[in-house]
Amino acid sequence: MHAEHATALPAEAGAVAPAHRVGDGPVASTCQEAVVERRILNHEHREIEHLVGRIEATAEMAGNLAASDLASAVRSLLDAMEKSLLRHIDWEDDHCFPEMDHLAATPWATRLLRIQHEQVRRALEHLEADWRALQTEPALQPESAHRRLVDLRGRLYGLHAQMSSHLEQEEVVVMPFLEAGSGMAGAAPEPRVTSA
Ligand SMILES: [Fe+2]
Ligand SMILES: [Fe+2]
Repeated sequence: MHAEHATALPAEAGAVAPAHRVGDGPVASTCQEAVVERRILNHEHREIEHLVGRIEATAEMAGNLAASDLASAVRSLLDAMEKSLLRHIDWEDDHCFPEMDHLAATPWATRLLRIQHEQVRRALEHLEADWRALQTEPALQPESAHRRLVDLRGRLYGLHAQMSSHLEQEEVVVMPFLEAGSGMAGAAPEPRVTSA
């Protein structure tokens, strides 16, 4: 992934020298790259799970805080998501998914996950607009302010559901695929089945 993330990886996450990372050259299906990507993915998902919890917590606060306090909470959440979530999905689009498509020998392997990334980017753009709107909250009529808070709350819960589902899909499909790819590049692994 990004050089910053590479250096931040704990030893057990399997940090390797940047020269070995996918993205330093053309996509290559090597065992080492699949292993490294799987470990980075796992490490970063643990961080993003924490963020997903913050999204839900902010949604819960949306009806109880003054506009200025809510604006601060939303800004802090957006900053954290831009720093980790957006960079994570950029890395997946640019390095991890091409590797997976290469292993699967089709660009369709990650198509749905890429579409979900676009949906997340759009959701964050909406939240940016919500945050800007909160700055003018005191000038609004009570009904308009209430409507805006309800909309914001709905978008936050929507993003929470979106991200929870997306992470689960990646952990059920992408991680096992890369894991299997590290030992049998070119052959598609059996999908991991989870109970409902
Ligand atoms: Fe993703
Ligand atoms: Fe991910």
